[in-house]
Amino acid sequence: MELRDWKPWFAAYDDPESPLAGRLAVVRDGITRALDEAAAGPIRILSLCAGEGRDVIPVVAAHPRRADVTARLIEFDPEIADVARNAAAEAGLTDQTDQSDQTGAFTVVTGDAADPANFADFGPADLLLLCGIFGNISEADISNTVARAAALTARGGTAIWTRHRREPSLVPAIHDWFAQAGFAALWESDPALPESVYVAGHRQERDPAPFSGGDKLFTFIK
Ligand SMILES: C[S@@+](CC[C@H](N)C(=O)[O-])C[C@H]1O[C@@H](n2cnc3c(N)ncnc32)[C@H](O)[C@@H]1O
Repeated sequence: MELRDWKPWFAAYDDPESPLAGRLAVVRDGITRALDEAAAGPIRILSLCAGEGRDVIPVVAAHPRRADVTARLIEFDPEIADVARNAAAEAGLTDQTDQSDQTGAFTVVTGDAADPANFADFGPADLLLLCGIFGNISEADISNTVARAAALTARGGTAIWTRHRREPSLVPAIHDWFAQAGFAALWESDPALPESVYVAGHRQERDPAPFSGGDKLFTFIK
């Protein structure tokens, strides 16, 4: 798979005034909310195109429910995946795995997040992260990914996604696709944020159909 070098993209996170840092704060708040509201018991988190894991790793590490979390982060670039893996290890998240059943495993997979082979075995997630994806794939692939997210998200689970709001904005269409897939809109980012930033959280209100695997969900075109 051909992929552009995404490593320089992450530098914008280090400028607290950048739109990307503003987006990260919203995503982190959404993750915190999902953990706060999660039912008692195991919490399964799946992050596709996870990057350096700057959203989920610090939030889980600081959250009282951290021991309940089993997470799989999937990132294609091996160096970026290593950054995430090291961050998870430094946060102590990789030490809590129950070796008997892998409960509490916090795993960073180096691989294609569009390939169902990398997550079909994970089971419906209580939190699905689709951040930094929808601005980089075709409209048809966004629609397809949202439709298939239905089978990846447990009833009551949250899906968080991002997309810019530049015209013609696809944000209303993406909301429609989530609704068709059984999700109710929960929250969205402040419209006062720059138009490069939009984040929303949705709750799955149906029991997920079994995930069928099959074709890739999307292809990055940027
Ligand atoms: C825009 S960044 C977003 C990273 C992260 N989700 C975030 O919001 O900080 C996109 C990331 O997706 C990764 N990526 C692109 N295509 C991928 C694929 N098919 N499978 C896994 N990772 C992919 C890139 O290497 C890059 O790290």
